[in-house]
Amino acid sequence: MPETTWWKHGIVYQIYPRSFQDWNGDGIGDLRGICERLDYLGWLGVHAIWISPIYPSPMADFGYDVADYCGIDPIFGTMEDFDRLVSQAHAKGLKVILDFVPNHTSDRHLWFVESRASRDSPKRDWYIWRDAKSDGSLPNNWLSNFGGPAWTWDQATGQYYYHAFLREQPDLNWRNPAVREAMHDVLRFWLRRGVDGFRVDVIWHLMKDPEFRDNPPNIGYQVGRPEIESLLQVHSTDQPDVHDVIAGMRRVIDEFDHRVLIGEIYLPIERLVAYYGSDLSGAHLPFNFQLIQTAWNAREIAALVHEYELALPEGGWPNWVLGNHDQPRIAARVGAAQARVAAMLLLTLRGTPTMYYGDEIGLGRVEIPPERVRDPWEINEPGLGLGRDPERTPMQWDASPSAGFTTGRPWLPLDPKHPACNVERLKQDPNSILSLYRRLIALRRDRRALDVGSYHTVAVEGQVFAYERRHRGERLMVALNLGHEPRRIPLPTDSTEGCVLLSTFLDRTGEAAAGEVGLRADEGLILELRRG
Ligand code: GLC
Repeated sequence: MPETTWWKHGIVYQIYPRSFQDWNGDGIGDLRGICERLDYLGWLGVHAIWISPIYPSPMADFGYDVADYCGIDPIFGTMEDFDRLVSQAHAKGLKVILDFVPNHTSDRHLWFVESRASRDSPKRDWYIWRDAKSDGSLPNNWLSNFGGPAWTWDQATGQYYYHAFLREQPDLNWRNPAVREAMHDVLRFWLRRGVDGFRVDVIWHLMKDPEFRDNPPNIGYQVGRPEIESLLQVHSTDQPDVHDVIAGMRRVIDEFDHRVLIGEIYLPIERLVAYYGSDLSGAHLPFNFQLIQTAWNAREIAALVHEYELALPEGGWPNWVLGNHDQPRIAARVGAAQARVAAMLLLTLRGTPTMYYGDEIGLGRVEIPPERVRDPWEINEPGLGLGRDPERTPMQWDASPSAGFTTGRPWLPLDPKHPACNVERLKQDPNSILSLYRRLIALRRDRRALDVGSYHTVAVEGQVFAYERRHRGERLMVALNLGHEPRRIPLPTDSTEGCVLLSTFLDRTGEAAAGEVGLRADEGLILELRRG
């Protein structure tokens, strides 16, 4: 694997640190816990871990409200623990990617404390302060992503401050060069400590309309959807000058060797690909969440893969994501049978795959009783099903009462099915989803066609989506049955023979196919193609 572009070949594994492994028994995962599980990640075969925020934080948004960019929250451990994690991960050939949260800080960050102290504070302009309108009303109609207005009144200084998320998460003013410099130094601080890159939180939010114009109403808004969707975010996000800001971050990343810049971006494909930047000066990987947002059927998924492939800029490297700590679990969305097909899709498309911890054991939606709800979004906009706790529950390692996650009381409830659904048990079952993930990862590592090969759609027939990955003479066909009825599909006309490398049911390896191939309900196959 060429070291300079490891992120093109590697599989990224997201760890939500509160929920991966608790070492000190407080019911919350920590850095030493992650260290204990590095061998598992090596066994699974992933190349990099991205760890959601571990910085000092009041945890209003579970770490996405950072109070100090250059520290470690005691809940997660110490800086020594962090350094140990990086060196142990590196020793095992694993890269470490941190979450960087530049759009907003915690309201307890000293910068904000100073900024709100007075209108003349040297840090006043580090955040976004606005007067009330002459009638005393809010500066504009922008909404918080977690419900309610995006402006909070500060009584002491008589102005509003802007927060795209919670009021405890004031937005930084990225138009201020001092903010940019300070944040660049934060990046350097971690890059010098050896981190291999960053996943940048809500990167498309960083710049706002300089005139702070009202967002237009969304005429397609449906009641029951989050309030933020009632407006189109045309002035509050995705501004043309955000690309200069990202290019600035990228220059810092490029001061160091072999590091990666990943951006969190929820935008349609044509807007998303702009985040590669002109002449690829932006994010190496603007996260592609299309699979999360598209209906689970062959036609729409095939169309989106096609559209994405066409939209990529020259030299822009693709990537795919099936789940994260903000989205319902893939197994909850498509069901246990299709979760296996989804794994095959993620790990055979062209581009860097990002996996979310727990998806490899088929973790589904875990019910959270009302008294254990923790997510502020659920608390602010209850009853709409927006809560993110169900996809943040602890990893399930074994059948013991706390699933091997903690010796204490887990901060979120465990899946009651954990005695049957845990790493130890699934490792022993050659037909488990975990065994499937491991074999898919091994195949992807082994086959250049899956790693760097070109992509070609072969067929979209009923609920079957089939494509080829080609590299030099190597031709692999992936055929996915997204439906619940068996189907037969023809092999590509210029190849009459195929040999099964892997089925999602793990039982057909070596089977020959001539002219066509049969797929059982909910089955995915990878075949090697030969000319007849
Ligand atoms: C991102 C994070 C999410 C967080 C939000 C605000 O979308 O993934 O968890 O709540 O940003 O920081």
